[in-house]
Amino acid sequence: MEEKVQIFDTTLRDGEQVPGCQLNTVEKIEVAKALESLGVDVIEAGFPVSSPGDFNSVVEISKAVTTPVICGLTRAVKEDIEVAAEALKYAKRKRIHTGIGTSFYHITYKLNSNQDEIVERAVESVKYAKKFVEDVEFYAEDAGRTENEYLARVIEAVIKAGATVVNIPDTTGYCLPEEFGKKILYLKENVKNIDKAIISTHCHNDLGMATANTISGVINGARQVEVTINGIGERAGNTSLEEVVMILRNHSDLKLRTDINSKKIYSTSRLVSSLMNMPVQPNKAIVGRNAFAHSSGIHQDGVLKNRENYEIIDPADVGVNQSSIILTARSGRAALRHRLEILGYTLSKEDLDRTYKNFLALADKKKDVRDEDLEILLGSFNKEDRNMKLELLQVVCGMSTIPTATVRIRSNGDVLTATGSGNGPIDAAFSAVKQLIKRKVRLEEFLIQAITQGSDDMGKVHIQVESRGKIYYGFSANVDIITASVEAFLDALSKIG
Ligand code: KIV
Ligand code: ZN
Repeated sequence: MEEKVQIFDTTLRDGEQVPGCQLNTVEKIEVAKALESLGVDVIEAGFPVSSPGDFNSVVEISKAVTTPVICGLTRAVKEDIEVAAEALKYAKRKRIHTGIGTSFYHITYKLNSNQDEIVERAVESVKYAKKFVEDVEFYAEDAGRTENEYLARVIEAVIKAGATVVNIPDTTGYCLPEEFGKKILYLKENVKNIDKAIISTHCHNDLGMATANTISGVINGARQVEVTINGIGERAGNTSLEEVVMILRNHSDLKLRTDINSKKIYSTSRLVSSLMNMPVQPNKAIVGRNAFAHSSGIHQDGVLKNRENYEIIDPADVGVNQSSIILTARSGRAALRHRLEILGYTLSKEDLDRTYKNFLALADKKKDVRDEDLEILLGSFNKEDRNMKLELLQVVCGMSTIPTATVRIRSNGDVLTATGSGNGPIDAAFSAVKQLIKRKVRLEEFLIQAITQGSDDMGKVHIQVESRGKIYYGFSANVDIITASVEAFLDALSKIG
């Protein structure tokens, strides 16, 4: 039988402490509703005493969200607890999260106190919170650096005072996974009344071990995990919700489950990232842009044969439509053919060979080749049929320089070279081309478009040229827009005959 691990989401409290990521109340409600539909058990909605804005957000989230428990953070201070209780008054299910530092550092340098006094304050705060709500969670701040014996003493005392959940934060992200797991086990084995409360983990990622520590915690008996979407939070962040959920799902041998609807993970991640203006690193596990992207030829071939060769998670399970085969200079023909087939092109072997050659030439210049680029590549077969081909283009331009271009073209077997200048590099190159043609032509229209988004993008150039009252259309695409422009010009000129 699988046991449930409760998901306590603190995106709106610890996550929101990230500088520059503050949300207004309306945005917080949007995130809280997304968390509710994701299936989290507890939403830590804020720290009500910290500001009127936080207070108001806790009030409004309490009204807007009905299924999860709504939790408000406090210090072990009466006023904090009163304010939190007031902010939570509309919540259907409410929890006060109170606590105090228990490590030598916190007791000595932050609280200027001693161990006995801290036990007393911890007990008092839990008892006081119990006057307002039934569900009281206690946090032993910096538990990660608190010696186990003393931590056990504090935890036993707060459970006796009525704490329903005991939170063991690795506030500074210091612990090793084994050490953190042993800490949880120590509490399980040495706190007499531990079965009267749920043990919670709250791990920070300063050494990149938040998820590992959290998993070690649940393996050793914790049944609540405090997490944030995308792992956002103070400094290097908190444990990320999506990682813990998918680890438990992938490792069914642990016999632990959550109630998270994993198909909503990706959309929730995008929502939080965009509202908080906090981009997700591309290689972030589960929700990063590259989490399901395969770019090496060997991996692409393996994934095309059977997804599970290189993927332990079906992207659809986290709400990502499909794994993506990223076409790069290392991609093989199989990957290119696969992508072209998805785009509706079934090429003969010769056409595929020719396209693959063009594709490699493009991929050498561009980091990744996208669908739009492929469409252009396929449309660019006619380049080879042009009777005017660009063989060389050399441009000098920049500040305090007269833009100058030298072009060499092959036209009906002749190789022709000219140099021109103009008000910019394209104008200079066109002026050079014009010296090489006998006819008088006039540029009617000239349009440059980026195909995708990046600065490494391909530029598409559409041109219309007028000659003796007739219009000729030219097109080309290249990562170098000056080259694309000259090629498009030559394409139109080729048609004049
Ligand atoms: O990291 C921490 O210790 C916390 C507590 C306030 C729970 O965020
Ligand atoms: Zn924290």
